[in-house]
Amino acid sequence: MTALVEAAAATDTLIELVAVKKHYRFGESLVAALDGVDLKVTRGSFLGVIGRSGSGKSTFLNIVGGLDRPSEGTVLIEGQPLMARTSDALAAYRRAVIGFVFQSFNLVPHLTALENVALPLALAGVGLFERRRRAQELLEKVGLGKRTGHRPTELSGGERQRVAIARALANSPKLLLCDEPTGNLDSRTAEEIMGMLAQLHAKDGATVVLVTHDRERAERYCERLVTLEDGRVKDDRRSVPPALAIPTLGQEPPAQAPAEGGK
Ligand SMILES: Nc1ncnc2c1ncn2[C@@H]1O[C@H](COP(=O)(O)OP(=O)(O)OP(=O)(O)O)[C@@H](O)[C@H]1O
Ligand SMILES: [Mg+2]
Repeated sequence: MTALVEAAAATDTLIELVAVKKHYRFGESLVAALDGVDLKVTRGSFLGVIGRSGSGKSTFLNIVGGLDRPSEGTVLIEGQPLMARTSDALAAYRRAVIGFVFQSFNLVPHLTALENVALPLALAGVGLFERRRRAQELLEKVGLGKRTGHRPTELSGGERQRVAIARALANSPKLLLCDEPTGNLDSRTAEEIMGMLAQLHAKDGATVVLVTHDRERAERYCERLVTLEDGRVKDDRRSVPPALAIPTLGQEPPAQAPAEGGK
């Protein structure tokens, strides 16, 4: 029984970091951006990573996404070591499994919203008609069905981020990695984007890892909050965020959490 439970728990782990360190050489000194991180991310979870500027959040995300290699330790995705792959295999893996959303949107300026969203599909070899159809569908999903012909400069910040999210979803990634996706947005738009990520997680079962400075919003939306400090996990707590506490049929809705939330 215990072995069965353990086996089930093992397959539930999408990402595992084992003793991961990332050192950068800076002149004579070494900067420990990550300094021994052990962490398991459950399939289908919504994990928030918070911490001060310089605590290692982006380094963590880049290593999980295979954009960067750890100096020491292992990253396992579905039990397979990520870094054992060649650069080409890693790039193919990123395209097939991971969607990235960045603070600065990273859209291609001369392409329309539709063309930006269709880009990863073109890289994956999807034909023109099908990728335009899918890009249109994704833009409608993020509420931008009427903006498909706009270029990034012809869109608001929140709309640009929604295009970036649609693009990240183009290849139906198992894992959505977001680095400060609301960092450049006003409070109301940030709330909309967080709501959208929460929906993707709740309805489509996407695993979302969200890096943010915004503890308050992370507490309201994420199921688990990891705090990094000086490249180490300082705190790791789970909560049922009020924003996601959707009542099941026949149950009383949950009581509203206090303003502090999740503590
Ligand atoms: N290429 C690099 N060379 C040297 N040091 C680096 C490099 N990249 C990051 N660092 C250092 O590693 C540490 C962690 O950086 P990281 O970007 O992961 O922080 P962060 O938590 O994402 O910060 P922020 O909230 O400001 O984005 C910082 O002290 C940073 O100065
Ligand atoms: Mg960062």
